Order: sequence, then structure tokens, then C-alpha cells
Amino acid sequence: MLISSNYLLAKARRGRYAVPAFNINNLETLQAVMAAAQEMKSPVIVQTSEGAIAYAGMEMLVAMVRVAAQAKIPVVLHVDHGKHVELIKQAIRVGYTSVMFDGSALPWKENVKITKQIVRLAHAKHVSVEAELGMIKGVEDLVSVAERDAVLTDPEQAAEFVAQTGCDSFAVAIGTAHGAYKFKGKTHLDLERLERIAGLVQQPLVLHGASGVLEDVVQLAEHYGAELEAARGVLDQDIKQAIKRGISKINIDTDLRLAFTAGIREATTDLPRVIDPRELLAPAVRCMKDVAQRKMKLFGSAGKA
Ligand code: G3H
Ligand code: 13P
Ligand code: ZN
Repeated sequence: MLISSNYLLAKARRGRYAVPAFNINNLETLQAVMAAAQEMKSPVIVQTSEGAIAYAGMEMLVAMVRVAAQAKIPVVLHVDHGKHVELIKQAIRVGYTSVMFDGSALPWKENVKITKQIVRLAHAKHVSVEAELGMIKGVEDLVSVAERDAVLTDPEQAAEFVAQTGCDSFAVAIGTAHGAYKFKGKTHLDLERLERIAGLVQQPLVLHGASGVLEDVVQLAEHYGAELEAARGVLDQDIKQAIKRGISKINIDTDLRLAFTAGIREATTDLPRVIDPRELLAPAVRCMKDVAQRKMKLFGSAGKA
């Protein structure tokens, strides 16, 4: 069943677990995520970036997810990091049930103005809106309080932003970064900042850049020729602490990319005679499904569908 994020995230916030939001670009990733969610009885957010939409086409993505969402679990179709108002409008028109407006690079006034506009359009169609303030990037090199404050989400500003815009959920910048190279040294999330944001913002909070860059998946990929030295993700223990402190939606893209490409590398090495793409893609789907299931257990969403 295809629904908006609101009910799922409110329930997750009350229940102190987080709903996984997986980025998809193609059929195989969607198959893996949906198989995992159905087996784990987990709600799931399927999200597509502007890049995914450029790659696969919005109508194609909507059609695939509509069919996949006939499953007996709650499914959300969400625009991830939407930066263009026209694209978001189109997504609302063609059947997305949730959208993110990412105005994090804009000056405050403009971010508030456009987020408000999107909220008005989206709510008229019962579509939920995620918004963002602060920059999602690694902060190891930022040692002074002033430097960190310039990048990470300020709790008071967050409360003001959410009140002014009326957004339904709010993406926090607390030290995570997108991609496989998040931290040079020890991983560090500003959990104290998260706690202060959660104390001031009633809306569900979203953690981006949350992939763990799982050691066994990296090892498998490297065994089959990938070069991933220095790749480093968010620790499981930090994810658990973040959920305890109010995170209700967690975005995962990189871990699925690593799993997909590890599976592809394995297949092309181990099955040199196979020319059927379905057989070559099978290990990739298996690997992504396994990763998705592990996330559902870690986030506490298993059994919550
Ligand atoms: O937040 C970014 C996601 O990982 C999407 O990445 O824009 O390459 O699809 P992409
Ligand atoms: P990762 O790169 O850590 O998977 O983060 C994905 C994300 O935040 C998508 O919006
Ligand atoms: Zn993100």
C-alpha cells in the first residue's frame, strides 16, 4: 500500500525506531528492498534522487513502485534531495507520496520561502514534505565551535524553520556525510546537538548520510577487485544512539551501491560463461536484500509494518 510518510514517521517517533529510506535507480534495487521489507514485515520508504529520475525517468519509477507497493506493507515513494521546484511539482502530479525540498544551500529566507511553497502544494494532495537546514558533510576538519556551527544544524534555528515552513519532517546535519568516505578517522556524530534539536522540534527527524560501509560487503567487493581503502561509514552503535535521541527516518544509498557492485563483481568473476543478465544480476539482488534486512533489524523497523 502506497502512503505518505506522515503516519509512518509519527508512529516510528512514538515507538523509538526508524523507518529505512532506500535510494533506488532501477528494478533490481527495488526488488531487493521490497523483498527485504516483506520478509521483515517492515515499513519502507523508496526514494529517488534527481539523478535517479534523470537516469530511469520519473514515470517509469512511479510505475514500478506502484506495482511493488501492492504488497501488504506500507510503502512511501519519496523524492530525495529535490532541488528544483518544477521537478517536485511534477512528482506530486504523477503520484509520489512524499517529497524532500533540499534548500540547504540557499540563504535562510529563500529556503523558508520555497519550502513553504512546496508544503502548500504538497499538502493539497496529501503528500508529505521533508526539509533541510544545515550541511550534510563530514566535520572532522572543523575544530572550532564557530566552524561546526556554520555547517551543522542549529537547534533554535531548526525549531524556527520548522514552525515557519510547516514541513512534516526535518533533515538534521549532525556530522554525517553522503558516500563511502564519510570520516577520515573515528566516526563522530554530534549526538548532543541532535538531542537539543529533538527537544525543540516535534516533527520526525531524518538522518542522511547514514550508510555503515559494512566491513563484510567492502571485503567481498575488494576480494573481487574493488579498490575501497579508507572507505568508512557510520557505526551501528551511533545509529542506535541517534534513534534513541529522536531520529525516525534513516537514508541509505551507499550501502546498497556497495552491495550491488560487490554482487556484480562476484558474478562476472565466478560466472564467466554466463551471458544471461538475470543470472549475473542475481548475486547483486541477494547482496542488497541482505543489507536491507540488516538495516531493518538495526533500525528496529522489522515487524512494524
Ligand atoms: O543523497 C544522495 C544520494 O546518495 C543520491 O545520490 O544523486 O547520485 O543519485 P545520486
Ligand atoms: P549514504 O550515502 O550514507 O547512503 O546516504 C544516503 C542519503 O542520505 C540519501 O539522501
Ligand atoms: Zn541525503
